[in-house]
Amino acid sequence: MKLHIWSAGFATCLVAGGAMATPALFHDADLKLGQKLIAEHRCAECHIRKVGGDGSAIYRPQGRINTPGLLRGMVEQCNTELNLGMFPEEVTAVAAVLNRDHYRFK
Ligand code: HEC
Repeated sequence: MKLHIWSAGFATCLVAGGAMATPALFHDADLKLGQKLIAEHRCAECHIRKVGGDGSAIYRPQGRINTPGLLRGMVEQCNTELNLGMFPEEVTAVAAVLNRDHYRFK
């Protein structure tokens, strides 16, 4: 039995997650904006250097990034470390696109 009380954001996802294709966290995300930002910040270029191919092998849904919240957190971390200067809603948009195309969290 799982009785973890996570942060409010995560809890919302868990509650809403079952029935819907998009995690609650990403419902309002601007996917077009996310795609634009991913291209602009050349996310793939650097990932390709690390894993080859089209770079998408870096995204591992079975790895340590295994919830929408952690995915968004990882993008936020890149945002900070790489000094990309994205706004919170832009980070969410980027994470939502990665989720749609790679992680597919429900
Ligand atoms: C300067 C190089 C570089 C750039 C630019 C970069 N990344 Fe990464 N990224 C990495 C490396 C290296 C890893 C692997 C880290 C690890 O495995 O510990 C990674 C891992 C990730 C992961 C986690 C993958 C997983 O499932 O474990 C995500 C998500 C991610 N990057 C998103 C982004 C996004 C979004 C951008 C663009 C806004 C971006 N990265 C730009 C180098 C980069």
